Amino acid sequence: MKVLVTGGSGFIGSHVVDQLVDAGHKPVIYDRLPSPFRDDIQTQLGELSDLTGLQLAMNGCDAVMHLAAAADVNEVAKMPVESEAANARGTLNVLEAARGAGVKRVVYASTIWVYTGESGERVDEESNLGMPNHLYTASKLAGEMYCRSYNELYELEFTVLRFGIPYGPRARPAAVVPAFVGKAMAGEALTVAGAGDQSRRFVYVEDLASGCVKALDPAAANRTYNLVSDSSVTILEIAELVQELVAPTGIKYTEQRTADYVGVEVSGARAEEELGWTAETPFAEGVSRYVQWRREDEAAAPVPMQPAAKAARGLSAALTRLRGSVAVPFIYTAASLAMLAAYVVAVDSLGLPNAQVGTLAVTMIASLAVFLLIELMWHNPKTRSASAVSSALVTALFIFAVMTPWGHQLFHLATPGRSLFVLTITGVALVIALASAGVALARRRGLIEDAAAARLNA
Ligand SMILES: NC(=O)c1ccc[n+]([C@@H]2O[C@H](COP(=O)([O-])OP(=O)(O)OC[C@H]3O[C@@H](n4cnc5c(N)ncnc54)[C@H](O)[C@@H]3O)[C@@H](O)[C@H]2O)c1
Repeated sequence: MKVLVTGGSGFIGSHVVDQLVDAGHKPVIYDRLPSPFRDDIQTQLGELSDLTGLQLAMNGCDAVMHLAAAADVNEVAKMPVESEAANARGTLNVLEAARGAGVKRVVYASTIWVYTGESGERVDEESNLGMPNHLYTASKLAGEMYCRSYNELYELEFTVLRFGIPYGPRARPAAVVPAFVGKAMAGEALTVAGAGDQSRRFVYVEDLASGCVKALDPAAANRTYNLVSDSSVTILEIAELVQELVAPTGIKYTEQRTADYVGVEVSGARAEEELGWTAETPFAEGVSRYVQWRREDEAAAPVPMQPAAKAARGLSAALTRLRGSVAVPFIYTAASLAMLAAYVVAVDSLGLPNAQVGTLAVTMIASLAVFLLIELMWHNPKTRSASAVSSALVTALFIFAVMTPWGHQLFHLATPGRSLFVLTITGVALVIALASAGVALARRRGLIEDAAAARLNA
């Protein structure tokens, strides 16, 4: 299967890419950053806000694993607007692009934080979800809802995976396991709030990635699964384990934070029953693998980047930023306008007979009309049939005028010769370039409704 992995350069996504390769699938990465872990995987750099870029990247894909997101709750709290755009609207764009590209399934990375029950309460995929407290959870839940809506409206298959708290190689340094390991490696004591009895459902990242691959199974169509381990670990247990595995640097107890949330008990039974998936790696084993990876990672001397590689990376980041900017359609529009003006001046200087000028004009105007009708009306189901009928009429008139002897006589056109044919094709190409650049500019500036919004409004 060819699978697009959004966020494939990140912590969990990179493991998903590895396991897709191991399972014989062909992953393609879509991310705003190149993967620091693999350079042998086809990668499309881009933003989740770029609907066209997403759709192009999905061409020929059977499924999409959508993991790109603002995944760090602190980052979300600092940048609420950008985070909502990535998590909620970014997911909407992924679904819309998948619909446009004819992708069968979108597998969506959600979180067990969507469960808002009482501390210690047992929950599963059928449990009612309350109103989320954090913007991160709200935006991830919005993504889940969009998956369902797209299935309901357009029959796009989804699989929602609610991840437990992942740990393992490549994890963000701020998470609890990396933070404890980092401190112990630096010879510092580990800080635990209160008695350290707050428990969490951790899941080893490679187990999580194998769950993502299993979610491509036909049985997982339109299902939601919790990917969690079957036991909870307390903060104190983690601290003690890290002391044992890294160094006995001591544990410092600080005051209990008020009302520290113990968390609900999330069941992973459905994933086991339907997908045959369980989190196999025992916590101690997973932390030990993480410590080993961390030691190897830190021991590997940082290789200074070659100037050429540095320049290529800078250029690719600059191009990605440029693609999202309003300047690009503006530059295309100005350039197409300049080329069309040069073309008109050149044709004028040739001193063509009236019949040939008329032929050029009719061809260009008709092509422009067909292009605009299709471009502006086709995406909206309300105007789609009008667009089809008008396009067909304009095309029929065009064929009649340009291709038939009667049309030539009626419209006083020239009989097409080789040079007229070349001039006509050039003119049509320039007119369509100008029109498409103009439409892109108008869309970017919000003057024309975006196709995705138009489809939703329909
Ligand atoms: N890490 C966790 O604790 C956790 C827990 C539950 C669920 N999840 C979910 O799992 C998924 C992956 O999380 P992770 O921990 O690997 O995160 P990560 O930050 O390591 O990776 C996210 C990747 O997405 C990319 N990205 C972010 N915003 C983007 C945008 N607007 N356009 C294009 N690319 C963008 C980043 O460059 C990065 O490579 C996320 O959807 C997250 O919500 C994570």
